Amino acid sequence: MRGLPKANDACWCGSGQKFKRCHKSTTDPVRPGRITPMRQVPDSIDKPVWADGTEVKRWDEPAVKDPEVIGRMRRVGRDAADLLAYLGTVIAPGVTTEQIDEACHARALELNAYPSPLGYPGGRNPFPKSLCTSVNEVICHGIPDDRPLRDGDIVNCDVTLYREGVHGDTNATFFVGEVDELSERLVRVTRECTELGILAARPGNLINDIGKAIQRHAESQGFGVVRDFVGHGIGEQFHSDLQICHYYHPGLDTPIEAGMTFTIEPMITVGSYRAQMWSDGWTAVTADCGRTAQFEHTVLITADGAEILTTPSDTRLHPYWALAQQPVAQNS
Ligand code: MF3
Ligand code: CO
Ligand code: CO
Repeated sequence: MRGLPKANDACWCGSGQKFKRCHKSTTDPVRPGRITPMRQVPDSIDKPVWADGTEVKRWDEPAVKDPEVIGRMRRVGRDAADLLAYLGTVIAPGVTTEQIDEACHARALELNAYPSPLGYPGGRNPFPKSLCTSVNEVICHGIPDDRPLRDGDIVNCDVTLYREGVHGDTNATFFVGEVDELSERLVRVTRECTELGILAARPGNLINDIGKAIQRHAESQGFGVVRDFVGHGIGEQFHSDLQICHYYHPGLDTPIEAGMTFTIEPMITVGSYRAQMWSDGWTAVTADCGRTAQFEHTVLITADGAEILTTPSDTRLHPYWALAQQPVAQNS
């Protein structure tokens, strides 16, 4: 991993100011922490194949879903969103990401659902926890560990539940105590990018119109769009073939059709959009250690737009909708 720029270097953002006076985050880089053993899931809960270590074989799942599948996705999507909103009540300075995982796991079981990340193949070893927690410069797939959250951190919680044979995938970035102005703007703009991506997800548009809308807004605000991780088709499989880039990719010229279900989950950076991987093979961090934020929804394409399947029962309790109370793009 490349080191942090030196305090007296010119800032990478081109402001002409010293790094320490400009984009230097107020916190030390996140370091790998201690990870506890995998939690158990009772036999009464239906599990995806990876729960017992079975190899995941991708199959050709139809991009356009039957109404009956959509019904199941709506139910698990709402519960994933409610769980995410509940995690927001757990987050506070001093709380470890391990404690967030504990809360997520327990609540998933109460909902009679399997936490999809648990045992999911990839990385150096299967993912050992029930959600991803990504702090400050961690772009995505952070593993919950014993690091206590600090006042001024931002933390993304990425929740996926599996029930009735389908997945619902959603995430949000939360403030820990009081955060600096740049982090606040980053998180607001990232929510707006997600919103604009969802608005571009409608019949008559192409898949690449989603990334085009997201990239235009992020870059107009001086922020970067991560290339190495993308949204994905979702349904009976956690990740199916369809790829949703969050930047403009001309090759993604598939028309958007009613009945499609996929995620939109832009990762936006204050500095470099380039990613580096920790040796665990999961934790992705920004190359310059600048902060990054993300929001994710599972959406269903309808006749004239997109329905957010990961809509909670009470949107007032959810950080995504709470931020929506503020006007979009007030600085552009
Ligand atoms: N929820 C993530 C996504 O949005 C995937 C996490 S995979 C895991 O696609 F194994 F890290 F949990
Ligand atoms: Co996803
Ligand atoms: Co996710």
